[in-house]
Amino acid sequence: MSVTPSSFAADARSYTFRSGQKKGQDSILVLYVQQFELHKDRRLRFAQFARNLTAVGTTRRSAAARGPLSQRTRGEKGSQNLIPKKEKRKGGEMNRLANESEMKWMPLLYGVTAGLSTLVVVFMLVWTFHFRGGFAWQDFPAIQFNWHPVLMVVSLIVLYGHGILVYRLLRNEPKKKLKLLHAIMMITALLLASVGLKAVFDSHNLAEPPIDNLYTLHSWVGLAAVICFALQWLFGFVAFLFPGVRHSLRSSYMPLHVFGGLMIFGLATTAALMGLLEKAIFSRVSYAPLTAEGILINSTGIAIASLSLLIVYIATRWQYKRQPLPEDELLLADQLAE
Ligand code: HEM
Repeated sequence: MSVTPSSFAADARSYTFRSGQKKGQDSILVLYVQQFELHKDRRLRFAQFARNLTAVGTTRRSAAARGPLSQRTRGEKGSQNLIPKKEKRKGGEMNRLANESEMKWMPLLYGVTAGLSTLVVVFMLVWTFHFRGGFAWQDFPAIQFNWHPVLMVVSLIVLYGHGILVYRLLRNEPKKKLKLLHAIMMITALLLASVGLKAVFDSHNLAEPPIDNLYTLHSWVGLAAVICFALQWLFGFVAFLFPGVRHSLRSSYMPLHVFGGLMIFGLATTAALMGLLEKAIFSRVSYAPLTAEGILINSTGIAIASLSLLIVYIATRWQYKRQPLPEDELLLADQLAE
């Protein structure tokens, strides 16, 4: 939904402030609208201003307009207070300040995440080109295999990991935009992973003589990760992007989506580490004593493990959780009103 100053003003008038801020409320609204019009390029400050207000008293639609409490749905009641539960429990304002001071680590953490991602991709490419003969397709099935590790790691570790972090990194972007970006990154990861799987199945089926499929623990764990990932995308799409799904259903599915996403990411990381070890052993690289290829394989594994742990860390720290922007709240109000 695009918010214009006039629609914003109209919607904003249907809100009341819980913490006795009725006095002066109109002037606050006027200020909102003026800022919206005059400082479109300063939306960050505007959002911060609104968040400061919501930290003291949560904006909500007029209770009178929504009828008696007993008639409201569970989801609607739950969404009246848009401050995260944990922040509310510990005392809004204090925690908001703690939250802001913690945010100063975000650029460093993200810098390390981006650095590790680059390192992982560079290691994979050096390994493939320097030690494994580069890339080919079905004419050379043994070389076609090389697409498998590279595409699996790029899709299910790097792209998936950054897809998990979009809400925390681009926290000042509107929620609708972030949902779309998250879904596009995840479906791209799924497509690349499918090409990676095609490469490994071809490399088995087109070999002379053909090699058995799906007999290793790595292949079982890997396939489980890809299937769960595909289901997770489908359920996520239906729940969060499909029009007309009830807000209460969305919010009750959300914790499962977050938990499932991190578990599948863990499964994919495990599969990638197992795949590296398996390839090192299967292709009889001189793994012992330590050789240049062995060191590269081990370093790639360590870099993948560190990257995944860092992504899970950033994704599970409540201080880095994105706070709703005023326009998200208007969007939510629209959905509740439907
Ligand atoms: C998240 C990442 C990964 C997933 C989901 C995954 C998944 C799979 C699957 C489903 C197979 C079975 C193919 C078949 O049986 O024909 C397979 C095979 C294989 N993968 Fe991966 N893989 C991943 C990463 C890697 C990596 C990084 C390597 C490192 C070289 C690797 C090495 C292998 C090897 C050597 C095989 C053939 C032997 C076997 O079937 O286990 N994989 N992978």
